[in-house]
Amino acid sequence: MVPPSSLEAAAPLLPGPLAPAHVPGYLDQTYWWAYVHPKAVHFFEREWLVNLILFGNYKRLCDAALAELGDPVRGRTLQVACVYGDLTPRLRERLAPEARLDVVDVLPIQLRNLAAKMPRDERVALLQGDSSALACPDASYDQVLLFFLLHEQPEPVRRATLAEALRVVRPGGKVVIVDYHRPAGAHPLRPLMRQVFKHLEPFAMDLWEHEVLDFLPAGVQPASVEKSTWFGGLYQKLVLVR
Ligand SMILES: C[S@@+](CC[C@H](N)C(=O)[O-])C[C@H]1O[C@@H](n2cnc3c(N)ncnc32)[C@H](O)[C@@H]1O
Repeated sequence: MVPPSSLEAAAPLLPGPLAPAHVPGYLDQTYWWAYVHPKAVHFFEREWLVNLILFGNYKRLCDAALAELGDPVRGRTLQVACVYGDLTPRLRERLAPEARLDVVDVLPIQLRNLAAKMPRDERVALLQGDSSALACPDASYDQVLLFFLLHEQPEPVRRATLAEALRVVRPGGKVVIVDYHRPAGAHPLRPLMRQVFKHLEPFAMDLWEHEVLDFLPAGVQPASVEKSTWFGGLYQKLVLVR
């Protein structure tokens, strides 16, 4: 693990020193081993491992998210939460000259890790913030990406995250969600994934038992909803147009 001071020096995408983390309870109690503990980043920041966790689907799922955001990616894009692997570096490479990408994450360690994976780029800003209370004006982005975030959040936080994503995207803009989904009844990985969720990811079953749309704020109706599933239904991409 590189000491934080060297990471800060190697991290010109960060606007300045980061505030001490206000770690949400579920991250601290349930996901400390994946994102919060200093050794977590060192351990999980390996693409082959993330790909293994997703049964070989990491690139395919990233490709699906990126295709939805455009090539080149134009306008203002918000990625809510950092992701291990090369998703965000690939997103940066697709930015049109005048485009902007903001990435918000609540954990300084995750922002530093992402900064260390990308070159300096004036179009990109890494921001510390909570997905359930974004510090951005209404309708300030053309598109918002949530990649495997919602399944990690307890229901009230998930609801707030979705409400915020739909608040900050402009009318006609897209919220792109890639996450777990209820697999087909005969899916051979159902029993294994049930155990994984039971022991490691206790909020993830919500995405098997409900549609993501069930967690939208009352009265919020996207202009259109497009859903695709992959790998026997274990993964989904949902595109909500506000
Ligand atoms: C996007 S999710 C899972 C991504 C995926 N499993 C991967 O390959 O990395 C993990 C990220 O979400 C961030 N996160 C979790 N809750 C958050 C919140 N309330 N606000 C902002 N970021 C959050 C964590 O700090 C972590 O960096």
